[in-house]
Amino acid sequence: MSLEETERNTGLYRLVSIRQINRFLRNALRMPGAQENMVRNHIKPSPMDSILDLGCGDASMLAYFPDVRYIGIDTNPQAIAEARNRFGSKGEFMVGDFSLAWNMADGQFDIIIAYGLIHHVTDTQALSIYQQAYRLLRPQGRLVTLDPAFVHNQHPIAYLIGRLDAGAMVRYTDDYVRLGKEVFSTIHVEVRDDIQRIPSNSIFLECIKEG
Ligand SMILES: C[S@@+](CC[C@H](N)C(=O)[O-])C[C@H]1O[C@@H](n2cnc3c(N)ncnc32)[C@H](O)[C@@H]1O
Repeated sequence: MSLEETERNTGLYRLVSIRQINRFLRNALRMPGAQENMVRNHIKPSPMDSILDLGCGDASMLAYFPDVRYIGIDTNPQAIAEARNRFGSKGEFMVGDFSLAWNMADGQFDIIIAYGLIHHVTDTQALSIYQQAYRLLRPQGRLVTLDPAFVHNQHPIAYLIGRLDAGAMVRYTDDYVRLGKEVFSTIHVEVRDDIQRIPSNSIFLECIKEG
């Protein structure tokens, strides 16, 4: 599948991808405190952790992290420029595809974050993210993911939001879990409908590397 098939980026999508509009919409739609809660309850970084963030965007979550070793990768140069301006040496920021991490050494990360990424990629790419994350994590390390999801008997607005997402690979919750289970045997799943101010469904996965 080509990028055009996994990513909607023409017309209105081009407008929404303008950084200022994107940031305004994100802040307007998200419940107050949602990001801080995600960091505290799902990412759970500890001081000195090594953290890799795939599709980090402007790395705004880093504001809620303690002192950690942080590497963020994103294809969007403007988002990475914003991250560098805001966080400077608090993190290392790379412009490029998430696969830039695939040549990093085994077992070096405590946490790998892929928030808002899996619904932008094909099943084959998602599997390579799970496989490479497994390799890059230390034993007991965790891959944490967050994506919009379809659920059965979904609120019609939530369904529409999933259908209209710029990432064209929004999946049913079971499909996200099935893909993750091909690599990780221990996965905690949480499906939430209270992340945004409008009806929407999100799936959080916490994939643990046993050992
Ligand atoms: C929904 S945003 C999430 C940003 C950030 N993780 C957050 O939670 O605020 C998805 C991000 O994934 C990035 N992205 C999409 N495809 C990518 C790829 N192949 N490699 C790296 N980043 C990618 C986009 O540029 C965008 O910044």
